[in-house]
Amino acid sequence: MSGRIGLAAISVAMMAIATAALAQPAGPAAADAGHPGKAVYDKVCAACHDHPAASRAPSLDSLRAMRPSSVEYHTTVGYMRTQAKDLTAAERKQLEDWLSLGQPDNSGWLQRSQCRGAAERIDPAAKPAVATWGVDPHNSRALSAAQSGLTKADFARLELAWAVGLPQTPTMRSQPVVAGDTLFIVASDAGRMYAFDVRTGCAKWQYEDAAPLRSSISYGELAPGRPVIVAGDATGFVLAIDARTGKLVWRSDARLVEANRITGTPVIYKGRVYAPLSATEINHAVDETYECCKAQGAVVAMDLKTGKKLWVGRTMVEAVRTQKSRVGTQMWGPSGAPIWSSPAIDEKRGLLYVGTGEQNSIPFVETTDAVVAFDLATGARKWSFQATPRDLWHYGCPKGPNCFGSETGVTLDHDFGGSVIIAKRADGRDILLAGQKSGAVWALDPDSGGKLIWTNRLSKGGANGGVHWGTAVYGNRVFAPINDATPPSADYPTAGVALHALDIDTGKILWTAKGEGDCSGDRRARYAACQTRIGFSPAPLVVDGAVVQGALDGILRVYDAESGAELWRYDTMRKFDTVNGVAANGGAIDSSPYVAADGMLFVVSGYGRFGEVPGNVLLAFKPKK
Ligand code: HEC
Repeated sequence: MSGRIGLAAISVAMMAIATAALAQPAGPAAADAGHPGKAVYDKVCAACHDHPAASRAPSLDSLRAMRPSSVEYHTTVGYMRTQAKDLTAAERKQLEDWLSLGQPDNSGWLQRSQCRGAAERIDPAAKPAVATWGVDPHNSRALSAAQSGLTKADFARLELAWAVGLPQTPTMRSQPVVAGDTLFIVASDAGRMYAFDVRTGCAKWQYEDAAPLRSSISYGELAPGRPVIVAGDATGFVLAIDARTGKLVWRSDARLVEANRITGTPVIYKGRVYAPLSATEINHAVDETYECCKAQGAVVAMDLKTGKKLWVGRTMVEAVRTQKSRVGTQMWGPSGAPIWSSPAIDEKRGLLYVGTGEQNSIPFVETTDAVVAFDLATGARKWSFQATPRDLWHYGCPKGPNCFGSETGVTLDHDFGGSVIIAKRADGRDILLAGQKSGAVWALDPDSGGKLIWTNRLSKGGANGGVHWGTAVYGNRVFAPINDATPPSADYPTAGVALHALDIDTGKILWTAKGEGDCSGDRRARYAACQTRIGFSPAPLVVDGAVVQGALDGILRVYDAESGAELWRYDTMRKFDTVNGVAANGGAIDSSPYVAADGMLFVVSGYGRFGEVPGNVLLAFKPKK
């Protein structure tokens, strides 16, 4: 590798952890070690990918479990193109061959597990039980017993109904949607989308894209009886897939600049799609010859029928040339404010809310690490509330020359990683709630242009949270999971991994369920990091007053929303027998991993990023009779 793109330049935001015991299968040892692609990897990729906990890169095991064409995409046009820019075509080929060596041959599973007879049918008129990431346009992430078919009491009696393994995708980052008896899900690293039967896990269709996919999905109707699934991919395009057939209906370029991509879930509302943009420049900026940075977070509104762009809601003015970096590279700015989460729709006020991330290059603006309101009809920016000003961050911060200006700011990466929620106060007035990677939850007043009502900093936070992927509300409570394992101190008395229930009106803690590590039985052998990497990273989901919370230790925990008592737990970090014959193991539970519908709970497990344990399993649970 070119010496300039070194590990030293990366902000080592997380403590080093032991490598997890569970891994995807690697190639036969002898052929493997002598392969020329290994030398390419060692030279150009190993500095980061051999140290996943420190670099936040996917582990080597995860890279080796991905669809080869997805790796190729990332090293040519995607996230890793600056890291791989000096490779010759021959070296690239060797690298890809070596990475995919020994991948199991799963061709044929789809035919074998195809649904037969009545189960093949997808009812175009089925009402979706869960149609989007936030469950509803206000992002409550709360389902009633009627919507889910599950009651709080059912959780103590849940048992595994079936498991499905998804090939070539070590990171299960996307939340499924369910309509009628069909569950739709994205396998992001594999660039595929599937429809499965909820009762048996048989497959109804597969859609495969050339690009890796990335976001969770939304379900809507293009016209009566014409259901579609909308997804965002790793290249900044929005796709609409026919829910009955798995065929592409349209693909629409949402990017403002080449480096945009889509992480948060595009939402469907009244014939439109609202797609949030994030970006890949946090990685390109590590290279000191990269002209940092032009990409910005934005919301793009599209016509659901055609994918035609209707408006673009910008978080800041367009980037222009600014100064030269310390090593003479031209810099651009302002940039940043990526939107990592799913927008909230406020029909009453005609607004749409998002939380934004860090600033990538100066001049500093007021819309980074902020809650931003856009006009739903026009995309005009109406107001913003900035939680952390001057947070200049990318993977080349704080030391790299592209981190220009950091001396007058902070380098914290304190994004809003989860969605803004529109909730109700006790007196019926609306309130906006948002969790930040700083460990704080913020409550804003939508009737006063986003004035602060309360904030509560629950932990010290960090680059992976604090509150990482989001919160949920139920009754008078907002549920905030904490991912960082900071020990409590005078400054942060409530710090550490936990799920907190806060009073929506005041922000006061009503109960706390601490994330105690479970190293019982053979878990210590199976999962070497069980003591230190519990991490409540994914967003919770409330089902009839039961709070479902996943964790990086692979254990799904369910708490009583009222009391915080644990109702049920299930260890997903193991191998599973699958109904589709694809070898599968669970790993870390992260991002947005569960839905409940039709009397069942569906959970995905495995997260091959950020030094976590990869896995590729979709699990379905239902109550014992
Ligand atoms: C300077 C450190 C660094 C180097 C060198 C590097 N990577 Fe990465 N890579 C990362 C980080 C950090 C991430 C993802 C972090 C995140 O998700 O934000 C990543 C992500 C990836 C991904 C997944 C991308 C995605 O968005 O899903 C692939 C594939 C990948 N790298 C392949 C490679 C290959 C192949 C090489 C060598 C040619 C390489 N990387 C070199 C740091 C590096």
